Amino acid sequence: KKRNLILAFESSCDETSVAVVEDGSQVLANVVATQIKSHQRFGGVVPEVASRHHIEQITYCVKEALATAEVSYEDLTAVAVTQGPGLVGALLIGVAAAKAIAYAHDLPLVPVNHMAGHIYAARFVAPLEFPAIALLVSGGHTQLVYMESRNSFQIIGETRDDAAGEAYDKVGRVMKMAYPAGKEIDQLAQTGQDTFNFPRAMVNEDNYDFSFSGLKSAFINTVHHANQIGEELNQADLATSFQNSVVDVLTQKTMKALANFPVKQLILAGGVAANSGLRQSLDEHLKSFPDVKLVKAPLKYCGDNAAMIGAAGYVAYEEGVRAGLDLNANPGLEF
Ligand code: KG4
Ligand code: ZN
Repeated sequence: KKRNLILAFESSCDETSVAVVEDGSQVLANVVATQIKSHQRFGGVVPEVASRHHIEQITYCVKEALATAEVSYEDLTAVAVTQGPGLVGALLIGVAAAKAIAYAHDLPLVPVNHMAGHIYAARFVAPLEFPAIALLVSGGHTQLVYMESRNSFQIIGETRDDAAGEAYDKVGRVMKMAYPAGKEIDQLAQTGQDTFNFPRAMVNEDNYDFSFSGLKSAFINTVHHANQIGEELNQADLATSFQNSVVDVLTQKTMKALANFPVKQLILAGGVAANSGLRQSLDEHLKSFPDVKLVKAPLKYCGDNAAMIGAAGYVAYEEGVRAGLDLNANPGLEF
């Protein structure tokens, strides 16, 4: 029996990643070359630097992925690649590499939406069942996505300004933490108390949208004011108060969506899905929805990686999605 092996590429931001995924559910290899160290001194990702790193790393990643998976090009079923959204120069490297391999080895080329990839990271925990709702929280996006079936994505709510991860990273800057700050704030938040009572934006509005810029401003104003009058703020309490606000808003809006859309699963995915407070809060609140199964992307596949692109790419491949060698990166790709 022929195996279903997808060679997948992800290069939308600051991780060069190549994976081999079998049957859309088994990760045989997931090589991730991170560039974070090169961007940290700039306090964020520098697009030009990201592209250069991708070029340097990508062929090594392919070799390592195939060796780790113990498969050769002849064994492959298709090549999947992140087409967007992301940084255009960064995306182009993955797209060019995927096209080259698809052409050289006469393999079907399957374009994948990065955010669909994040959702399909949950496939490594359990088969996805539909209809489902996905809470997608990353550095660039915060969305509630309704999925009628396995390859259909309908945004029912999203952030009007900053993404949740973006808010973490901006607040982290004020706390003098290295970029990206999500994980560090999360860890600190586990040791403090919610003493600042930051705002919870839009929770009483009858929609599934989010806003995090007011929270960010409230946080920054609090810190600046304290600096001006020479007051020392408790850093752990700051982190806890900030995290509680983010988690509260994400949880309440998600529960509102679950109350109005009968679904079989709630999928939690994206870089911020690694957040311990969010995972705990959703576990807790899902008790009110005994018919809905919570499927959280595994911690190691929450951040950007090619394995998730392989999982989403397998589904797209089965659905007949194909690209020609004229495939272009699309930095603003939407569902
Ligand atoms: O999905 P991702 O790896 O890249 C994008 O597609 O944006 O998400 C990265 C984001 C960063 O903003 C980072 O600070 C955040 O995910 N993040 C976290 C945690 N781990 C990563 N935010 C909150 N809590 C965490 N544990
Ligand atoms: Zn991402």
